[in-house]
Amino acid sequence: MVPKVIFGSGSFDQLPSILAPKRKDKAPFIYLVDDVFKKNEEFLNRLHLRFNDKLLFVSTMEEPKTEQVDTIVKNIKNEFTYQPSGIIGIGGGSVLDLAKAVSLLLTNKGSASDYQGWDLVKNKGVYHVGIPTISGTGAEVSRTAILTGPEKKLGLNSDFTPYDQVVLDPDLTKGVPKDQWFYTGMDCFIHCVESLNGTFLNAFSESYGEKAYDLCKEIFLTENLTDEESRAKLMMASWHGGMSIAYSQVGVAHAMSYGLSYVLGTKHGVGNCIVFDHLEEYYPKDVALFKEMVKLHDITIPQDVCSNLTEDQMEKMIDIALSLVPLWENALGDDWEAIMTRDKLRALYLKM
Ligand SMILES: [Fe+2]
Repeated sequence: MVPKVIFGSGSFDQLPSILAPKRKDKAPFIYLVDDVFKKNEEFLNRLHLRFNDKLLFVSTMEEPKTEQVDTIVKNIKNEFTYQPSGIIGIGGGSVLDLAKAVSLLLTNKGSASDYQGWDLVKNKGVYHVGIPTISGTGAEVSRTAILTGPEKKLGLNSDFTPYDQVVLDPDLTKGVPKDQWFYTGMDCFIHCVESLNGTFLNAFSESYGEKAYDLCKEIFLTENLTDEESRAKLMMASWHGGMSIAYSQVGVAHAMSYGLSYVLGTKHGVGNCIVFDHLEEYYPKDVALFKEMVKLHDITIPQDVCSNLTEDQMEKMIDIALSLVPLWENALGDDWEAIMTRDKLRALYLKM
């Protein structure tokens, strides 16, 4: 679990005082920041960079890759004599996961792709702080850093992955485009659905999942909240949804969305929406709720994204989805292989 967290409108301004005691002599803080903030002087001034601190802007046009982590780590090692005092990730799920991975690869030899899996990371990472600027992915609280590698899209799942400190400032999510707000919020909703309907469910996951699920319904199905309340509640829904899956697993939508992402580069939030829209068979009540939310907010879910796949691409998509064994076990139980056959997956993908 994340051991330290602060929450509140404007809490971002406490960052310099949080970092000050962690600063080691000659060792910089490295800030990985979503490049949407590149020209936002006012925001960047609030970081108060000092000494040899370094600011790296990260494009989120594509989801994070193991190769990208390796390059950033190599550059940091080349540029600085001392191991950084800390890594600060500021952005959405992609940047948050990238920063976690960079922290781990600074203290663990080899390539990020060597650690894609469960509990492969040997050493504690460099001190790392996560600051979400969009809510829903749960990346700020999760024990994974999801990366696309040469062979698979899979996270660095380990006890060393979670942030040492998180700053939750709902004001930072102001100005997120509506579609992105919805897709990323639905990532949270889907985390809850997959956790609450999974065979791995337990009282720990259920308590967080139920809270996040209720918050999502309040945010996306009622119109009684002010923007400020909605931002604060979605930030907490993201946290609780992430906590819920930390002690259970996600399910069908995530497994299939990983396949889409690997082959077509579909981003996580929208990918989940594309898939979830067609999962009535597995999550009937919640797919109906999802469709209501889509309608209420007048959101377009891309259609027919798999209609022009080559046979190789389709096979790869199915391989990637089926490789996520714990997700299927959670969703469908021990007999999942008999239920989710390659033909069944193909038929589902062709609907999307
Ligand atoms: Fe997710």
